Amino acid sequence: MSLPKTQLIASLLPYILSLSILKSLTSNPQLSTHNPYAAVVEVEKLVYAYSRQEPVLQEISFTLNKGDRVALMGATGSGKSTLLENLIGLKQPQTGSITISGIPVEPQTLPQVRRQIGFSFQDANDQLFMPTILEDITFGPRNYGMSAVEASDRARQLLADFGLEAYANRSAHELSGGQRRLAALASILALEPTILILDEPTNGLDPAWRRHLAQVLLKLPVQVILIASHDLHWLGRVTQRALVLSGGRIQIDSDIQPLLQDGATLDQLGLPIDW
Ligand SMILES: Nc1ncnc2c1ncn2[C@@H]1O[C@H](COP(=O)(O)OP(=O)(O)OP(=O)(O)O)[C@@H](O)[C@H]1O
Ligand SMILES: [Mg+2]
Repeated sequence: MSLPKTQLIASLLPYILSLSILKSLTSNPQLSTHNPYAAVVEVEKLVYAYSRQEPVLQEISFTLNKGDRVALMGATGSGKSTLLENLIGLKQPQTGSITISGIPVEPQTLPQVRRQIGFSFQDANDQLFMPTILEDITFGPRNYGMSAVEASDRARQLLADFGLEAYANRSAHELSGGQRRLAALASILALEPTILILDEPTNGLDPAWRRHLAQVLLKLPVQVILIASHDLHWLGRVTQRALVLSGGRIQIDSDIQPLLQDGATLDQLGLPIDW
């Protein structure tokens, strides 16, 4: 999926502009102490079809609770990105419902919903649109009212965390694929989301950066992480639970460790573990 940049920016603006409320949510300690097992993401009988095609997603139901770190697995073309884009309202299901922190995902609630979610696209180019990556990372925080100095300090810290200090003033197209991926992740983390949804976050990263990203993600104070990836061993280090999409349905919803030991089942689902 690759949206034209203008359409993409337009679709993300309500989300970015409402981040002042996100900031107050994330800085309210009461919200993180109540009901630790509350449902954060609820999907009920979701059906989604691209125009003039059979449904890619059929009767998808699952719940992600506070504290869940979840892998979304499935063969190429199984519908992972399509499902993630439904969750943030970039695509609307034909039938079924999605609820984020108790708010039904509908056209009129999208600004409210998106203010809670940090979403990284499968293609990092869809995330970076400013003249420099420093501006890409300060863009969201500046729009929710952070001072230029504070936003720049936060961005420079994130650039340092991801080994990109020397590239702050370059545009995304002057970076390597892996560097673009890291810059895109930095631009999301700068927004301090409560729900993190990542589509193939390790694409283009070498093993050392995959390890570093895992360490960063494990330390984040978010309520829920949902990660679509083909990097099965890496998912085993970062997540506890796996959802596996196949034939348009969630065929497995289980702990990830036993699943990663079950090579025969993974093979049947188009996910041979050592390839
Ligand atoms: N814009 C589109 N129009 C029509 N069909 C599409 C469109 N985008 C994706 N599809 C189809 O929908 C199905 C699911 O695609 P999706 O990108 O969600 O899969 P995925 O599981 O994310 O795959 P990958 O592992 O390659 O990222 C595929 O068969 C794909 O060809
Ligand atoms: Mg995908």
